[in-house]
Amino acid sequence: MKQTKRNVLAQWVRALSGVMLTLLAAGCSTQSGAEAQQDVLPNLRDVYAHDFRVGVAFSHGLLDSGDAAALALAGTQFNAFTPENDMKWANIHPKENAYNYGPADALMLFAEQHHMSVTGHTLVWHQESPNWIFEDAPGVPASRETVLLRLREHMRTVMGHYRGRIHGWDVVNEAISTKKDEWLRDSPWLKALGEDYVEQAFRLAREADPGAELYYNDYNLEQPVKREKAVRLIKRLQDRGVHIDGIGLQGHFTLKSVDTAEVAKTIETFAAMGLRVNISELDMSLYGYGDRDNRYPDGAPAELLAEQADQYAALFQVFLTHHDKLDRITFWGVHDGLSYANYMPVKDRPDYPLLFDRAGKPKPAFYAVVKR
Ligand code: XIL
Repeated sequence: MKQTKRNVLAQWVRALSGVMLTLLAAGCSTQSGAEAQQDVLPNLRDVYAHDFRVGVAFSHGLLDSGDAAALALAGTQFNAFTPENDMKWANIHPKENAYNYGPADALMLFAEQHHMSVTGHTLVWHQESPNWIFEDAPGVPASRETVLLRLREHMRTVMGHYRGRIHGWDVVNEAISTKKDEWLRDSPWLKALGEDYVEQAFRLAREADPGAELYYNDYNLEQPVKREKAVRLIKRLQDRGVHIDGIGLQGHFTLKSVDTAEVAKTIETFAAMGLRVNISELDMSLYGYGDRDNRYPDGAPAELLAEQADQYAALFQVFLTHHDKLDRITFWGVHDGLSYANYMPVKDRPDYPLLFDRAGKPKPAFYAVVKR
C-alpha cells in the first residue's frame, strides 16, 4: 500500500489543526458544531490525495436544506463533484427555448468554492429527456436531422455555458441493454437516430467543448456480458476515430454483489483500451437487486454495517492497486439520508449505502476506507 511520508505528515498536520479549530470553536463560537466535528475526522480527499480524487453527488436542494452536517461533509471530505440531477436534460433544458441554469449554477459555485472538480452529468440518456426532443408535434416523431440539430444545440448551449469550469462530461449514459440478446437499450435516442447515436453524441460533444473530457457512463459493467457489450461499443467508437477519454463505472453495488475480481478485471479491460477509468456513482445497498422487503425501517443492524465496511475496504484495495488507471471515485450521495436508494427501486424504504449516517456521522465503512 502506498502511504507516502508527505501524506502521513499532511494528515497529522490536518488532524492537529482540526483539534485547534475545534478548541477555537468552543472558545469563541466562530465555527458551527457540524463544521467543528468534521475538522477532527480524516478527510477522504486527503487520505487519497496521491491516488485519485474522491467525489460526491447531490442536488441543489441540499444547499438550502439546513443540513449543516451534510454540507460540511460535502465541502471538506470530497474534491470532486457531480450534480446528481440538475444538469439532466429535463431539468436544465425543459423546453426547446427555455434553459434553467439557476440550480446547476448554484452547485457549480459550491464546488468551486470547495476546490472540487466538476463532472457534467449527463447529456444523452434514455431517462429525463423530454418528449419534445423527439417530436414535431405531440405524437408525431421528428426526423433524424431535427433530433440531431436539437442535440447539437443542447450541447453547444449547455456545454458552452459551463466551458472551462467542467472537467469532463458523461456524454452518453446507460446506452447498453441489460437484456441478454440485445446490444443497445431500446431508448428514444436509438429510435430517433439509429445505432450510431452514441457516435453522433460524442462527435457533437467534442465540437461543443473540445477542452472537456468525454466519458461513456453505465452500470453493472463488472458483469462480463454487459462489459463485453461496452467493449464492443467503445471499440467501434475508437475504430471510427471518435474522441473518448474515459469510462464511468457507476458502481451501484449491493452488499452481497461486490465481486472484487470482476471489478479489477473491468478496470484493467478499459484501461487497456486507452481509457481513463472513473468510479462515477458509488454506493452499496444493504438490499439485493430485486429485493423489495423493508427489513431495516429503524436502522441497520451492526453486523451488516460491519460487513459493509469490509466490502468497502475490499473495493478500495482494488482501487488503490489500480490507482494509476483511476482518476476519480465518486459517491452517489453525501450520507445515507440523501441516497436515492431510499426511494429507488422501492419508494420510502430506508437504505444505508454510503459512508456517513443520516446525522452525518461516520459509519464503520468510513473508518474502513480511510484506514487504507
Ligand atoms: C438518480 C438520482 O439519484 C435520483 O435523485 C433521480 O430521481 C433519478 O436519477 N444512474 C444515473 C443517475 O446515471 O443519474 C441516477 O440518478 C442513478 C442511476
